[in-house]
Amino acid sequence: MAGDWWRDAVIYQVYVRSFADGNGDGIGDLPGIRSRLPYLAGLGVDALWITPFYTSPMADGGYDVADYRDVDPTLGTLDDARGLVRAAHEQGLKVIVDIVPNHTSSRHEWFRQALQSAPGSPERDRYLFREGTGDAPPNDWESVFGGGAWTRLPDGQWYLHLFDPTQPDLNWANPQVRDEFHDVLRFWLDLGVDGFRIDVAHGMVKQDGFPDVGAQEQHKLLETRPLPYFDQDGVHEIYREWRKVLDTYDPPRIGVAEAWTATAERLARYLRPDELHQAFNFHYLTTGWEARALREVVDHSLTAIPAVGAPATWVLSNHDVHRHATRYGGGPAGVRRARAAILLMLALPGSVYLYQGEELGLEEVLDLPEEVLQDPMWERSGHTDRGRDGCRVPIPWTRGGSALGFGADGSTPWLPQPEAWSELSVEAQTGVEGSTLELYRGALHTRREHPALGAGDAVDWQDSEPEVLWFSRTAAGRTLHCAVNLGPEPARLPAGTVLLASDEYEVDGSDTLLPTDTSVWWEA
Ligand code: NOJ
Ligand code: CA
Repeated sequence: MAGDWWRDAVIYQVYVRSFADGNGDGIGDLPGIRSRLPYLAGLGVDALWITPFYTSPMADGGYDVADYRDVDPTLGTLDDARGLVRAAHEQGLKVIVDIVPNHTSSRHEWFRQALQSAPGSPERDRYLFREGTGDAPPNDWESVFGGGAWTRLPDGQWYLHLFDPTQPDLNWANPQVRDEFHDVLRFWLDLGVDGFRIDVAHGMVKQDGFPDVGAQEQHKLLETRPLPYFDQDGVHEIYREWRKVLDTYDPPRIGVAEAWTATAERLARYLRPDELHQAFNFHYLTTGWEARALREVVDHSLTAIPAVGAPATWVLSNHDVHRHATRYGGGPAGVRRARAAILLMLALPGSVYLYQGEELGLEEVLDLPEEVLQDPMWERSGHTDRGRDGCRVPIPWTRGGSALGFGADGSTPWLPQPEAWSELSVEAQTGVEGSTLELYRGALHTRREHPALGAGDAVDWQDSEPEVLWFSRTAAGRTLHCAVNLGPEPARLPAGTVLLASDEYEVDGSDTLLPTDTSVWWEA
């Protein structure tokens, strides 16, 4: 069904400031993205998710929105946004935009009004202002970026911010807030977008009475249970209302939850038939390169998510975590594993999220000079956590030029690119057999063409060594096998007609000898 394009879509995440710089000021922008649409269409992805480009002081890379209905002047104009959506559609690409409903920027008109108004006023009631006790904040809640979640005003009241102090949390118990966001959704839907990625989708509703958590390093506790400010049952009512808005469009538009929950079952609650369409599978992302753990998370995801009628999703990297080539060990070994991992992920049933630059085999940049770091985590952690800038370094498009083609020659990207990225650029890898970029292209095109890749909601595990993951899938009379060797010795597999392998392998009669950290697709 055309309306169900998202069920097995490959969705490519564009981190706007770091993708392509159209005007040479060192910052990626909407015209830059537009100029690179042919690249994305040629890569073989189905959709783009574009991170926030709204008017913003950029205290958190645009996740601090001052005006939800306009584009930040450093990133483009509303006309650029309209033109980008239209051009993407012309290339057959869907467009998902970010929406940030948990908090606004402190420069948002509403927060300015709240600051100028008295405690107890309707202006303050759009946010979460509270009295403290003596000099102590209202409770012990922590900011995800480090430190307390409350900031005090000169008049004595405190306001809640689960993230940076420049990102005050909205009060979703206030009907004005709900109405405003329905209107913002419609604004972008009318402009033509195909859906929304919902930031902090698990955070909008806080537990009545604002009880203490009674522990430190609170967001780690979310791995085991809901917190008074995360994954509260009340959030689901919001998505039921949003779903009604999305469903008034034809074909219906989609909602994707960025929700961190303790289990896949709790995540599935966001995906019930009258709520959202997809949620990021952070349980998969956080699983290490270990056969048993990967098999467990695949099985668990495929049990919990399709049970509510939603497709499983798979993701390895995004703009908030270290790039997976680095998490998997870094260097040639980490990249080799990352290459094996993409064939595994693209063979799983459901939808896949890619993060810009992973198709080039980019690693985390771990040695950015301290003076260029911009992530608020760096300051909020008292310079103990370098934050997320290392996965946000601008993309290398060409071998040469001061910005490696990210911007015009002579321009200086907002974060410096490692010299070695020249040889990882799109230009350097295009047409080069065995390059990571050509591996991604080949895999994405094969996935499009092969009926057993992507669709459905189950895998058939085959008997194999414990350190080999091997499953098959059948659709439209064609069976595809995927095997990954995570063990130290080569694995013997009856891979007849190989479609694609992540690295070189040996053939022994009709068998394939699959080396360590290599994956293969074959047809039987
Ligand atoms: C999740 C976003 O992905 C992240 O980049 C941001 O800092 C927080 N939400 C706060 O909006
Ligand atoms: Ca720019």
